[in-house]
Parts: sequence; structure tokens; C-alpha cells
Amino acid sequence: MAKKVYVAMSADIIHPGHLNIIKEAAKLGDVTVGVLTDAAIASYKRLPYMNYEQRAAVVAQLKGVKEVIPQEQLDYIPNLLKLKPDYVVHGTDWREGVQAKTRQGVIDTLAQWGGELYEPEYTPGISSTQLNKAIREVGTTPDIRRRRLRRLLNAKPIVRVMEAHSGLSGLIVEHASVTKDNKKHEFDAMWLSSLTDSTLKGKPDNECVDITSRLRTVNDILEITTKPIIYDGDSGGLPEHFTFLVRSLERLGVSAVIIEDKVGLKQNSLLEQGNVQQQASIEDQCHKIKMGKQAQITDEFMIIARCESLIAGKGEDDAIVRCKAYCEAGADGIMIHSKAKTPDEIVSFVKRFRAEVSADKPIVVVPSTYAQITETELAKIGVNIVIYANQLLRASYPAMKACAERILECERAQEASAEFCMPIKEILQLI
Ligand code: SPV
Ligand code: MG
Repeated sequence: MAKKVYVAMSADIIHPGHLNIIKEAAKLGDVTVGVLTDAAIASYKRLPYMNYEQRAAVVAQLKGVKEVIPQEQLDYIPNLLKLKPDYVVHGTDWREGVQAKTRQGVIDTLAQWGGELYEPEYTPGISSTQLNKAIREVGTTPDIRRRRLRRLLNAKPIVRVMEAHSGLSGLIVEHASVTKDNKKHEFDAMWLSSLTDSTLKGKPDNECVDITSRLRTVNDILEITTKPIIYDGDSGGLPEHFTFLVRSLERLGVSAVIIEDKVGLKQNSLLEQGNVQQQASIEDQCHKIKMGKQAQITDEFMIIARCESLIAGKGEDDAIVRCKAYCEAGADGIMIHSKAKTPDEIVSFVKRFRAEVSADKPIVVVPSTYAQITETELAKIGVNIVIYANQLLRASYPAMKACAERILECERAQEASAEFCMPIKEILQLI
């Protein structure tokens, strides 16, 4: 009987290195390829370009592949225990670095039934990392970008979103990366905040920055990034105008718009005193959501309904009634906002919404005032998207102000340049 051989791969961009591994594996016996699922890949790095079904379909057609199965985790062991292969085949590249532990787990598991690890020489001159870099330089298309938010929602316990208000801040959200516990931590998507877009222009957050101007910011960011965008649609304007906004955003490749149940002159939700914002009626807000859903062309675009009941002091019951109505009107998700100093009211609402309204409708939160809560805690109670709504702009203003004041104080730039500024060489290389 033919020996059983197991190979695991992401298979997002197939290159000669993969073909070589499969060729070598096929010499040993019947090859089963474990294709990593989107969730398995997203647990340690960015989402793959193609979804699991697409990647599995490509691998199934490769010469030497007998069968394709999903590998649901980065860890090989569950599939190895199911399959009990005689061999696992992997390139030599995983002997050192982040994958060394996974490799040891494979060796120990195979030893239980006398299986062996076979490691053909790594194919020089080509790697997925190189190809990824080249693909990133080419950029993305509106269709691929728009779709990406729903894929992230399916693949990740919580989608991490950072505000961007300019091309430059968009670059930071696109590229910021930290490696922790052998996993890459990056932002998944961008929030086009009305607060930071208005503040950058030196204007109040009351819808006085018009949609044409807001869409110019979106366009600046689209030009130099590939990550999905969630657009802060404020109140959405009149329903007749909201339909145009939906189509414009969709056409540009934006993934979602969030509209809040406010009427009259809009105020920012985080204002501590004197907040006289009037909430829209449930009927009017539902009508607007329905008009928006009817206007959209693609299946992927999302309209997320934001509820201001907790901000307005109307309480949890009101928030539940409203969010239920917004979902029934067709909203693809809800955002529940709070300006409390602790996460208690958000935690309580989310648990109740999950129990009483929907077990799986995406929930978005914006922990600006209750920033002590962690992503893991939010994911655990059933939050799907966390938005860091204003931190990059809030970080840049004090830095710029301190630099300006230092120049005034010293009557020259030398001190400020050394204390506050990136080297000129670096800024020229940035873009
Ligand atoms: C924004 O970022 O513009 C928001 C969130 O809408 S908040 O400022 O908290 O209202
Ligand atoms: Mg806003």
C-alpha cells in the first residue's frame, strides 16, 4: 500500500518552491495537502489574497496532489492525529525562527507511530514574502478591497480598525506591525472618522466638512493603501442623499458605512457637557437604512447602524429596542457607542444584544473613553469590530505643537529637530 504523505501550505501565491515540495513529497507516496483556512492564516498574519475555497481548488489541480483537506490551525497536530501519515514534508526554512516550535511538534507527533519528517532543500531565489511585497506594490482593486471586511469578519475573532485622516496616517495604518508571541499584530482596516477628518481641517465635527471633501480624504488614502475602509457617515444626511453616498462609497471600494441616529446640527458624541443632540425617531432611521440597502449594487457593502441611546442617557432598554429595529430594517451590523469611563454599560448591552436580538450580527464598538478594555475581552463578550477612532490624530497634534514651541523658544530649529523630528533622509525614503 502507498505510504501517506502530508504537506501543509497557505498556497496563496503558488511558486516553484511549492511545486518542488509537492514533487519531492510525491516520490514518497500519496500526497495529502492541508491547505490552511483563512482563520488559521489570520491567526498569525494578514488575510490571504484568495479565500480557502479558491486556494484549495488551485492546489487540488497540482500534479502529484492526491487529496486536499483544510488545516484549521497553524498547528499541524490535529490533522496529523487524524491522518497518521508516514511522512510530513516541509522545506528547510522552518528549522529556525518562528516556526521552529511547530516543527518540533510535528516531529514529536510523528514519532508516536514511527512517522518521519522529510525536509528537501529550500528552493533559492523565490519566496512568498518576496512575491507578497511585489503584489503589495501593485496595490488592490475596489472589488477586492470592498470584499475584504466581510472576509475578515469571518476569519478573525475581532477585527482591529485604526483611524486614518490623510495619506500619511493611512500609510501608518497600512504598515504598522508588531511581532508578539510569534504572531504578527497589524491593523485589519481603517476608520474614516468624521472627527479626525474635520479636526485635521481645523473645523468642528458637525458635518460642516461636506461629503465631496470627505471623499477626497478617502481617495488620498485609497491611492496608497490596500486595507479595507469603514466610513463614518455621520447621520447619513437626508435619505435621498444617503443613497448617493452609499453608491459613491461602494464604487470607490469602501467596505462599510456607519450612520448614527442623530438629527439636527450634529455634535460629537464624546462632548462631556451641554450635549443637546436630538436622536432620530426609530421610523426615520429605519427608513434611511432601508433606502441605503436598496441603493447598493454589490452584495458585500455593509450599512452599519450606530445607536446613540447610551450617549443620550436613554438607557439600555432603548438601545436594545432601537438596535433590534435597525437590524430588522436591514442593517448589516450595529455600532453601540458610549462615553462612559468604564466599559460596564457596553459589556452589559453587548451580552443582552447577543442573548435577545442576534447571536451573530456584527457588533462594532469604539472604546475611546473606556480604553482600558482589551481586544481579547471585547472578543469574548461577542464584539466583532473594535475601532480606535482618533488616537493617531491625537498623538500628532501635541508632537507638532511641542516642536513649534521649541523653535520659538530657541529661535532656531536645531534643538527641535534633534528632539522631535525624524531625519530628513527618512522622510524622503518614506514615500
Ligand atoms: C468619529 O470618530 O468621528 C466618531 C466616533 O464618530 S466619536 O468621535 O466617538 O463620535
Ligand atoms: Mg464621527
